[in-house]
Amino acid sequence: MESKTDERRTFIKKTIAALFTIGSGSLLYSVIHYFSPKQIHIQSKRGYAGIFDAETNRAKRKNNAFLPVKTSDGHFEIDLSKLPDGESAFMSLSDIPVIAVNRGDNYRIFNATCTHLGCLVKWDPSGKRFICPCHGGIYNEDGEVVAGPPPAAIKEYKTEVSGTFVKIMVA
Ligand code: FES
Repeated sequence: MESKTDERRTFIKKTIAALFTIGSGSLLYSVIHYFSPKQIHIQSKRGYAGIFDAETNRAKRKNNAFLPVKTSDGHFEIDLSKLPDGESAFMSLSDIPVIAVNRGDNYRIFNATCTHLGCLVKWDPSGKRFICPCHGGIYNEDGEVVAGPPPAAIKEYKTEVSGTFVKIMVA
């Protein structure tokens, strides 16, 4: 039978082992995260992201279609390796609707709010344009109005590329 001192020693050893395991896991995670490709950082405090469904004009929520999102240091980190080339992802960042388009060699990020009456635009991959389903507004791939009633372009957000990371300033 263990004495109180032995029990205390065992407890301390187990605690140290557990802390070491947690610390190693965090370090490993950080290293993997640093080197993993196509991560996107979005500066915001709240939000979600999903693969945009052009038919329903909504982010898909089924079958793990949502992109993994992590918050870190005041940024959102979205793994865009699950976003195929040419496709888009819809996000709500600090209550701002945002649409990210994977253009193969870069990502372009726009405010998804139509400048006409505020419906959400969707990306049309085959036409390489944004379409507003409410009144037929059409924007080109640069977000400029090409048809319909919208009075102005949709806002594009600046991105900062650092290695494999893209940081987006939504403010
Ligand atoms: Fe988009 Fe009217 S709200 S065209």
